[in-house]
Order: sequence, then C-alpha cells, then structure tokens
Amino acid sequence: MNVLVIGSGGREHALAWALSASPLIGSLYCAPGNGGIADVATCLNLDPMDFDAILAACRTHDIGFVVVGPEQPLVAGLVDRLSEAGIKSFGPTASAAQVEASKAFTKELCDRHGIPTAGYEKFTDAQTAKLYVRGVPAPYVIKADGLAAGKGVVIAEDLKTAEDAIDEMFAGAFGEAGQEIVIEEFLTGEEASYFVLTDGASALPLATAQDHKRVGMRDTGPNTGGMGAYSPAPVMTPEMCETVLTQIIRPTIDAMAAEGRPYKGVLYAGLMIGADGPKLIEYNARFGDPECQVLMMLLKSDLLPALIATHDGTLDDITLEWHDGAALTVVMASKGYPGAYEKGSVIGNLDAAAQVTGARIFHAGTSLQDGQLTATGGRVLNVTALGQTVKQAARTAYEAVDLIDWREGFCRRDIGWRAIEREKKKQS
Ligand code: AMP
Ligand code: GLY
Repeated sequence: MNVLVIGSGGREHALAWALSASPLIGSLYCAPGNGGIADVATCLNLDPMDFDAILAACRTHDIGFVVVGPEQPLVAGLVDRLSEAGIKSFGPTASAAQVEASKAFTKELCDRHGIPTAGYEKFTDAQTAKLYVRGVPAPYVIKADGLAAGKGVVIAEDLKTAEDAIDEMFAGAFGEAGQEIVIEEFLTGEEASYFVLTDGASALPLATAQDHKRVGMRDTGPNTGGMGAYSPAPVMTPEMCETVLTQIIRPTIDAMAAEGRPYKGVLYAGLMIGADGPKLIEYNARFGDPECQVLMMLLKSDLLPALIATHDGTLDDITLEWHDGAALTVVMASKGYPGAYEKGSVIGNLDAAAQVTGARIFHAGTSLQDGQLTATGGRVLNVTALGQTVKQAARTAYEAVDLIDWREGFCRRDIGWRAIEREKKKQS
C-alpha cells in the first residue's frame, strides 16, 4: 500500500521513519516533508492546507492511506475531504477535532459528561472578563478559545498582567482564536501527557510522556512548541493510567460518539496530576511534537496496522509491543527561538552524531540546499535516544548533540531533569 504522511516537522519525520519499516508499505510519501524525511520518504512539495492538491497527489501516486500529522489540516477538514473521495486516513474529522480547535467546546463536553477538568468561565468581551478576574484570586489562567499554535495561554500572577492579557486577546493578538476566551481555575500538581489511539469506540493506550515547554533551564522563560520530552512519565503509574482511562479518556470517546462526532485517530490528553487526582488540561487531536519522537523510538510493533485500525474500527484486534526502559529527545533550535531567529545556517557532522549507539536524529526544520543541510525553522533537530533509564537516554542523546557542529543552534542541557532526580532518589 502506498502511504502519504502530511506535515513537515520532527513529529512527521518520526512517523515516516516508523512507517518506513512496515512490510505493508509500497511507496512512502510525505507532503511537504523536510531534509531528514527525504531519507525515508519521497517528499512532495505541497501545502498541507491545499486539499485539492493533496487529493490530486493521492490519485497520481495511488495512495491507499493518509496519515495527517498537524492539527490545522485536521481542523480544516482534510480527513472529511479524503473520506468523501474514498481515501482512508488517520486522524479525526473536523467536527471531532473540535476537542483541540475550541477550548470552550472541550470544557462544555467535560461539564456535560462529568469529566474532571479545571473550573472555568467563558467570555466574549473584555469588560465582563476583567470584572470577573477582579473577583477571583491569582494566579489567572487565560486562554484564547481557538488554535494559537500553543501560544494562546497566559498564566498571570497578578491582576494587571491578567487584564492586559484579556485586552490583548480581544484586540486580536491571536487572531480569530481570541474572539472568545476561557478563564480557568489554576491547577497545581505535576503535568503529564497520555496518548491513546481510538477507532471511535475502543481506546488503545500508547504511552505517557512529559515535555519541556519553556525555553530555559529548570523550565523557566517563554513557552515554546516544546524543547524536549521523555517517555514514560514517572507520575503516570499503571494505576494512574487506569484512572485517567476510566475517568477521562473513555468517557470522552463515548461522549463524542454519543454526540454524533465519533473521534478517530490519536487522542492526546494534557493532564495535571494533583492531590485530588488527575484533571484534564487540554486535548489535542494529533500526536505531540516532540512527544511523538520518543513514542516512535519506544514502539517495537508495526505502526501502520494500528493506524489503519483506527479508521476501520478494528482497534480491538491490535496489540502493540514496546521497548523496555525510556526514550528522551533533545530539541535543537535556532538561536533566538521562540523569538526572532535567522534561517539558512549550515549544520555539520550530523552523520557522526547519528552513529552514536542508541541515538536517532529526527529533523524538524531542515532542508538540503546545494547538498548542505540547512536550518529552516525555529525547532530544527530532535536528538532522540533510548536507554534503560531516563538518565541513560539523556546521556546518549547529549553525546550525539555534542557531536553536532552548528554554532547558530542551541538546546536545553537539562531535558528529563525531573525524572532523573526521581530516579536518583529511588536508588538512594
Ligand atoms: P494548554 O495550551 O492548554 O496546554 O496550556 C499550556 C500550559 O499552560 C499547560 O501545559 C500548563 O502548563 C499551563 N496550564 C494550562 N491550563 C492550566 C491550568 N488550568 N492550571 C495550571 N496550569 C495550566
Ligand atoms: N509538545 C506539545 C504539543 O505538541 O502540543
């Protein structure tokens, strides 16, 4: 079967790499792909939002299955369009992708079905929102309702910052996404992510992960798309996973089916594990980036049949095998990210870094220009490794990082620190 992956980041490189090992694959394509994906798939220079062009490419290349990586085409209805054309795909329809596209939608779904989440109010004008925050204690969690590439959330420690954030959101700082805002109760505890595949009825747990959203050491500084991640998340014990499945994931899958928008694909739950149990922070309708990279490193089984089963409604027939131990990924980004950065610098010695035993490098923002690997984005490389422990995986990943010759890039040196401290405590 010929398969097409949609997207161009590290997540899509990891998916394409895993799919390329499937004996069921005829030809593997990726649109638009990147400099690393080109090693495992044929890259097609298409815009993921140009659905007509994608449908045409599916016919030209006799594509039997499409794997949609990022949220934007899902929310805009790519899966619906493919389905109308009789092409199978991985991912939710536009109406099911509302779990990510609208924070208010997910909050109301949780309310209707008793799914634990932070308390909230929603607002459509700045005046009422500001009156509300004046009556509740800090810190304030203020969210633009729609998609804002992970940047539509402000945690304000004081009233002034909260009111400014409200004004900015209604003034259009996040475009359409800020026409409505949600103000939430501030949750305390430890954050973790949980990924399950679902065919609209059954849930197949994949793995847990923790990511590092902040750009600075010890999780400080501005938010990014993610500077690194590891799996499993120590806080997600088998008992906690079962609680999350029972209280959060399964009720959501059942609710979506009952409300006429069955959810198929991967459901990514962002969770806060607090003293009174797990609460849902948010859902995403796709794999996390860079969490997907660690999940694909840990997966032993063929990915393709599992993804196809989410479409066909046969997930109950699938079992997946995983490597023991842990996986960790370090994001290398262009200096300046998540602010302004320069594109076009040349990355050297990647082949030597990729030779480190246990390490694998996924590309997030690269292209080959005149035979040279060039940085083309904010997040550029995901240096990923397996290990018996998070500490071992980190050691291997940083050994590979240190071989890469890229002066215009940087990375955090402490990915996995919470888990590593926990491992240390356990040993002593
Ligand atoms: P989100 O985009 O909804 O995942 O939010 C981004 C980040 O903001 C999360 O990963 C949390 O660190 C933080 N956050 C979001 N909502 C809350 C909340 N209700 N309480 C505490 N922290 C939150
Ligand atoms: N790493 C966070 C995300 O993919 O949303």
